Amino acid sequence: MIMSADAPTFAEVYPGHPEPQFRPLEFSRLPPQETLARAEAFYHEMQQRRTTRHFSRDAVPQAVIEWAVRTAGTAPSGAHRQPWRFVAVQDPALKARLREAVEAEEYKTYTGRMPEEWRAALAPLGTDYVKAHLTDAPWVIVVFREKYGLNTDGTRTKNYYTVESASIAVGLLIAALHHAGLVTLTHTPNPMGFLAELLCRPRNEEALMVLPVGYPAPDATVPELTRKPLEQIFQVDLGGTGVGGTDLDDTGLGSTGDQQIEP
Ligand SMILES: Cc1cc2nc3c(=O)[nH]c(=O)nc-3n(C[C@H](O)[C@H](O)[C@H](O)COP(=O)(O)O)c2cc1C
Repeated sequence: MIMSADAPTFAEVYPGHPEPQFRPLEFSRLPPQETLARAEAFYHEMQQRRTTRHFSRDAVPQAVIEWAVRTAGTAPSGAHRQPWRFVAVQDPALKARLREAVEAEEYKTYTGRMPEEWRAALAPLGTDYVKAHLTDAPWVIVVFREKYGLNTDGTRTKNYYTVESASIAVGLLIAALHHAGLVTLTHTPNPMGFLAELLCRPRNEEALMVLPVGYPAPDATVPELTRKPLEQIFQVDLGGTGVGGTDLDDTGLGSTGDQQIEP
């Protein structure tokens, strides 16, 4: 192991680069009990999130979308490149064009190019090529990742881990919208190349996901799904005794068992 006394100086690692500026971290340490309570409460809140495919046409103020996008923009990103762009579509005519273009591709997918294995995976969800949510939802956020930075003189700047970074941002966006009391559909039309042109995005951007956002239709339904319990998605160290509780109290964070998702 390299001892910190042997750590190289900044100038040795980054010759010719200016020293970075640092400031004290703003951080309020919570009592352990509150940390645990918050972790559990947030889980219960997120456990209620469901991908919804039936939207109400009720309006959602743009300010709500803006706050959620600000939250998405707090995501970590490779080399802090923030390689994302959120295009929020609310104009009914533009949503109609978006739907038309998406459905044209989805029609080809569902009626032809979808391999049987993929079809079998989608069968429990019952999705098809009709995408009414794209015109019903008051907002459709199309998330682009910046494959590379495009400078004003036309030169490129390399970006890092753009899919990972933009996907984390989408996760935060979905959580923020759910927290605000809205529903989303994570939609990945395939292929998505046409979206950049339709939404006038530059050539360094590539559509990653399409997120209709709004309120659920009064008669909205969701497929019966279960989520993997903690035991199936979590390992401590090299495994072994499985999921433990906590040394703070006996709430047994891991004792969730197989959860049936509430509609
Ligand atoms: C990357 C990704 C792509 C998805 N693409 C679609 C899609 O194109 N159409 C769709 O109806 N749902 C899509 N979904 C939603 C999933 O089907 C949904 O998240 C999953 O069935 C679990 O349901 P839940 O979100 O309610 O927990 C996608 C989800 C993710 C994460």
